[in-house]
Amino acid sequence: MRPGLILRAAADPQALAVQAADLIAERVRVKPELSLLVATGSTPMLTYAELARRVQAGTLDLSRVTAVQLDEYLGPDSLGLDDTDQRSLWGWMQRSFVGPLRITRTVRFQFGEDAQQTCTHYDAQVSALGGIDLAVLGLGPNGHLGFNEPPSGPDAPTRVVPLSPESQVSNRVYWDREVPRQAVTAGMTVILAARASLLLVTGEHKRSVLRRVLNGPATPELPASLLGGPDVTVLADRAALGSALAGSTAGGS
Ligand code: PGA
Repeated sequence: MRPGLILRAAADPQALAVQAADLIAERVRVKPELSLLVATGSTPMLTYAELARRVQAGTLDLSRVTAVQLDEYLGPDSLGLDDTDQRSLWGWMQRSFVGPLRITRTVRFQFGEDAQQTCTHYDAQVSALGGIDLAVLGLGPNGHLGFNEPPSGPDAPTRVVPLSPESQVSNRVYWDREVPRQAVTAGMTVILAARASLLLVTGEHKRSVLRRVLNGPATPELPASLLGGPDVTVLADRAALGSALAGSTAGGS
């Protein structure tokens, strides 16, 4: 396995959600003002539901956390989608994370007349926060992080990106409407500068891309393979891990 990764295994997506929620809750216990970069997508939804259950039970308080949006689609006018558009990732983040987890502080992509200015403003807001403490990430089938599509090197900034045909196809499962062709994404610069990262991976369909992330080489052709550094945890269920577990140092349930 590539050095610098901590691999943890979970029996199934539900067990993974509990383990991920434990990891996130522990970070918040240590630093209640945590800045948390938040992915949407299918993978983290059970984790967010588990966190919401704890918040509602009164055993977890996220009121001082700042939740930072990871990416957003652009409409045909190259500006953001309406928040009420079912495809809006900000809308999805509100429904799955900000609302149920009773988050009061957020950083989002704010659209004006120019999407590139939106990105500059986003970076300034992340800098004002002091950067990202913990990035909770999903793994694209093509190895993308956020919408940093291959190839995206470590210097890829926060920017407007055309979505790869593969991402347009894979994102079609979320709704029965057309997938936008452009997006804005937190740059690899923002993601790789996070003080800690948690990459969540479930399902057999992610097995081959996960194997490439775990075993390397680190390459812009597979942006997730550029994760490294002092505090990167890959938390994967057994369906995603398959035989990648053999010979690794993975632990967990
Ligand atoms: P998924 O998406 O969690 O829906 O598999 C991950 C991604 O494309 O980043």
